[in-house]
Parts: sequence; C-alpha cells; structure tokens
Amino acid sequence: QFTPRVFSGIQPSGGLTLGNYLGALKRFSEMQNEGRDCIYCMVDLHAITVWQDPDKLRHNTRELTAGFIASGVDPEKSILFNQSAVPEHAQLAWIFNTVARMGWMQRMTQWKDKAGKNAEKASLGLFAYPALMAADILVYHATHVPVGEDQKQHIELTRDVAAKFNHDYGVDFFPMTEPVIEGAATRVMSLRDGSKKMSKSDPSDASRINLTDDADTIAKKIRKAKTDPDALPSEAKGLEDRPEARNLVNIYAAFTNQTVDQVLAEVGGKQFAEFKPMLADLAVAKLSPISTEMARLLDDTAEIDRILARGAEQAREITVPILKKTYEIVGL
Ligand code: ADP
Ligand code: NA
Repeated sequence: QFTPRVFSGIQPSGGLTLGNYLGALKRFSEMQNEGRDCIYCMVDLHAITVWQDPDKLRHNTRELTAGFIASGVDPEKSILFNQSAVPEHAQLAWIFNTVARMGWMQRMTQWKDKAGKNAEKASLGLFAYPALMAADILVYHATHVPVGEDQKQHIELTRDVAAKFNHDYGVDFFPMTEPVIEGAATRVMSLRDGSKKMSKSDPSDASRINLTDDADTIAKKIRKAKTDPDALPSEAKGLEDRPEARNLVNIYAAFTNQTVDQVLAEVGGKQFAEFKPMLADLAVAKLSPISTEMARLLDDTAEIDRILARGAEQAREITVPILKKTYEIVGL
C-alpha cells in the first residue's frame, strides 16, 4: 500500500569519486529519468559524525549539490536538499535510537571499519549513524534506495528498524525498503589495490578518480592503474581471479551501459596497453562535461542555496505529516 518512492543521500565530506558517480549519482539521474518520484539529500548530519571544519563543510555541501546537478539530477524533477534543513530527519532518528538495539549497531561493518580499534574514542553519532540513515529513508516512507554495495547492510538495518517499530506499536506504518544495487559498477575498486573499494578517504590520490580531476590526470591515473600481464578474456568468467582487470572492465561497462560480457565481446583479446587508452578516452569524454558544469554552478553559490532551500520546503511537505503521525503512534 506504499506508493513507490526513491530516496538516497551522499555525505558532503569533501570530494566525489568515480565510485560515487557510477555507484550512486549516475543511477540517481537514471531513476529520475525513468519518471520515478525521487528525493536526494546532502547528508551533512552524517558527515559530522567525524570532524568537519565548519567552513569546509559549508563549501563541500554546495560542491556536492553541484555534483548532483552536473550528473543529471534535475531540481525541477527531483527534490534536492540538505539534511540539516529538514529537522524531521533528526527527530525521527531519536525515536529510532530507542527502537534499534546496541547489538545491531555493533554488527555494522562500516562502524567496525571506521571506528577501528579506537572505538572508545569514536563519536556516539558514528555508532548511531545507521539509525539516522533509517530515519532519512523512512521519514519519506521511501520504498527504494539506490546505493553502492557497501550500503547494503545499512538498508537491511533500515528494514529491521521498520519491522520492529511496526511490531512493537502494532501498526503497518513504515515500509520494507528495498536496496537498488544495479549496474556493472556497484563496487568500484581502488586503481592501486583491487581488494579495496575506491574511496575519497583513501590517502593515495592515485587510487581514485575525482570528479574534479582534469583530462590529463584522469588519463595518467588509468594508464598507471594496477593490472596483470594477461590479455583481456572474451567472457566475464575469465576475470574471476583478476580483480584489477575486472574493475577496469566494470568501469567501462558502467560508462557505456553494457554488461561485462558485451564489453568483452568487443575488447576480448586486447592487451591493457590497448584497452587502457580506450578506457581513458571514455572516462574523459564522460567526466569532463560534469567537472566543467560543476565549476560553472559553483560560480553562483546563491543559486545553489536557493535550490537547496526550495528542496527543503518540498521535502518538509512530506516529512512533517509523517513525523506527526509517528509521534501519535508512540504517544508523544
Ligand atoms: P564515500 O563512501 O565515498 O565516503 P558516501 O558514504 O557518502 O561516500 O557514499 C555515497 C554513495 O556512493 C553511496 O551510495 C555509496 O554506496 C556509493 N559509493 C561510494 N563509494 C563507492 C564505490 N567505490 N563504488 C560504488 N559505489 C560507491
Ligand atoms: Na560509503
């Protein structure tokens, strides 16, 4: 009985990578263009679970907004806003803090990775991050969340929160949200190490392509990407134990909206010395218009602020009644 609705967010924690683009932003605009009801958010309250310099955070939020728009998210079609401007996210998160269990949070792999051995010194917010993420999604009754593979566990937790709330209060109020993890690049790997995901927080800049990299930098990073000495196989199963090779083919497939087998039908038998320049040309052709458009949009921060303010108003038309009803259910 829940109307289909798409929600997703990205942290304004500084810089966007090819992983964010292929795993998230490109999918966001595709889902919008399928005519779906889409809501996209700069999750600044998530970003501050680790220290952010206030002026940089303000800049990063605008830069991320420019990244969304330059990637094809149209504020006339999708709702685009900043999380902290819609207070119902944090208000519902508090209720979910009382629904979710400590043990659920302790099992989150992102918590274990980010807090590491120094969990005593991590912020309480970093621990509770998944409850806020559940609130982000459920405060819209969102049914579908496009994300990269790394977020799958958090969506499962969102379903657990919804199920426990519905059960505890004897209602059918929150939907069982589905992750949408589709396409050839749901987990883009580091260009230097095929066992690590490409990330803006990796200390090695050569490990990632940033959406703001210029054409020469993109080409150089791809040329220097780690690979193996073998030629490309003609079918996907030939990439099974070749994570670096598979990653580059996945990237090519995602950019061209093909399957890995379709790409290999075209490039199977080629050496990397030949394939890498093809991939570099493709990446430059796809990413240059995005970085140019981001720079243009960032010239007019007043316009970005206006878009975010309007998006927050549209978002609150949905969140205020859902929070009000939640309070009634809880007895607040
Ligand atoms: P990051 O992981 O770069 O710090 P976020 O946690 O804000 O950024 O993630 C934003 C979105 O980008 C999420 O949907 C996440 O799954 C996706 N994403 C991040 N890195 C990758 C990657 N290497 N491959 C595919 N998707 C990714
Ligand atoms: Na992430």
